[in-house]
Amino acid sequence: KTLDDIGNISGKRVLVRVDLNVPVAEGKVTDATRIERIAPTIAELSGKGAKVILLAHFGRPKDGPSPEFSLEPIARATAEVLGRPVGFASDCIGDTAGSAVAAMDKGDVLLLENTRFYKAEEKNDPAFTERLAANGDIFVNDAFSAAHRAHSSTEGLAHLLPSFAGRTMQAELEALEKGLGNPVRPVVAIVGGAKVSTKIDLLMNLVKKVDALVIGGGMANTFLAARGTDVGKSLCEHDLAPTAKQIMIEAAEAGCAIILPVDGVVAKEFKAGAACETIAISDVPADGMILDVGAKTVTTIGEWIDRAATLVWNGPLGAFEIEPFDHATVAAAKHAAARTKAGKLVSVAGGGDTVAALNHAGVADDFTYVSTAGGAFLEWMEGKPLPGVDVLKR
Ligand code: 3PG
Repeated sequence: KTLDDIGNISGKRVLVRVDLNVPVAEGKVTDATRIERIAPTIAELSGKGAKVILLAHFGRPKDGPSPEFSLEPIARATAEVLGRPVGFASDCIGDTAGSAVAAMDKGDVLLLENTRFYKAEEKNDPAFTERLAANGDIFVNDAFSAAHRAHSSTEGLAHLLPSFAGRTMQAELEALEKGLGNPVRPVVAIVGGAKVSTKIDLLMNLVKKVDALVIGGGMANTFLAARGTDVGKSLCEHDLAPTAKQIMIEAAEAGCAIILPVDGVVAKEFKAGAACETIAISDVPADGMILDVGAKTVTTIGEWIDRAATLVWNGPLGAFEIEPFDHATVAAAKHAAARTKAGKLVSVAGGGDTVAALNHAGVADDFTYVSTAGGAFLEWMEGKPLPGVDVLKR
């Protein structure tokens, strides 16, 4: 159920789980994308006269309340982004939260303190969930990016209160459905990033679902090594060569093409402006490091993007944070963005570094959907159930 099904909420207390786990440096939010994403849900609920009570976690506090993990500065940033007052209560349960909620008028917005100040939150402890539920009549979950956690505020509350997906959760699920759930074929996936070890389940799942899988980034080296290529001093998890081989076998059985780099940008040092050359993958010297995929590989990736009707992307193709090793990621991102703008491609990207890489390429806005979720996006790509989503479907 979405906000279309929520009915008359004038004067009702609506607990809204949002993701305010945003990057903060010296007390200032450095990337407000997640705050911007929840604005439509808040505006809609408040516009209908609800008392909007925001629940969120921030960081991973270990020992109860601490100023370092307080949501108070983020309440201020949220008010700035929303362009409206956002109240703050220094606890998410008990009298402090209760009296702040009792003082709300129709349409007001209030943020409660970090739910993770209580260990019970992460244990999905029913007694704690009830204390959270005491401040609401209705539950709206707008935090897809925290939906891989079965916590009180992400999963438990949906068992106690009438529950609905917020607009961001809805948009995210619709985009993901287009990406892998029920995609227009052919589907091409681009997976990059440093290590295979963090993405084994994801690769195993993708080869069964997509028509072609482009592997880039440091993790491609493990696949190249598994195939017998000498990758010199490149980042490589040699112990995972058997896993990489198994992934290639499963891909072949499922009819999924695996596209590995045929050339690479190779340097002797990993630093900005290091001398580098583009060479065939078979010619990497013993002291060389592959830090980006080369021009021929970029052309091949472009051809696969041209053939695709749907593209799913997670992880950069090279060490994009250091120039000139961002070229392949930028070129492929621009290519996918142009196809998307031309109406020829559905492009869905997400997870960790991917958003930063697409922002770096200046094309994040041109993709069909860019998820701000890290872990939740990966678990979705792995085909795992997301407790915070499943409970809403039940
Ligand atoms: C995220 O930042 O990916 C989400 O907010 C989840 O945070 P967590 O990994 O600490 O649960």
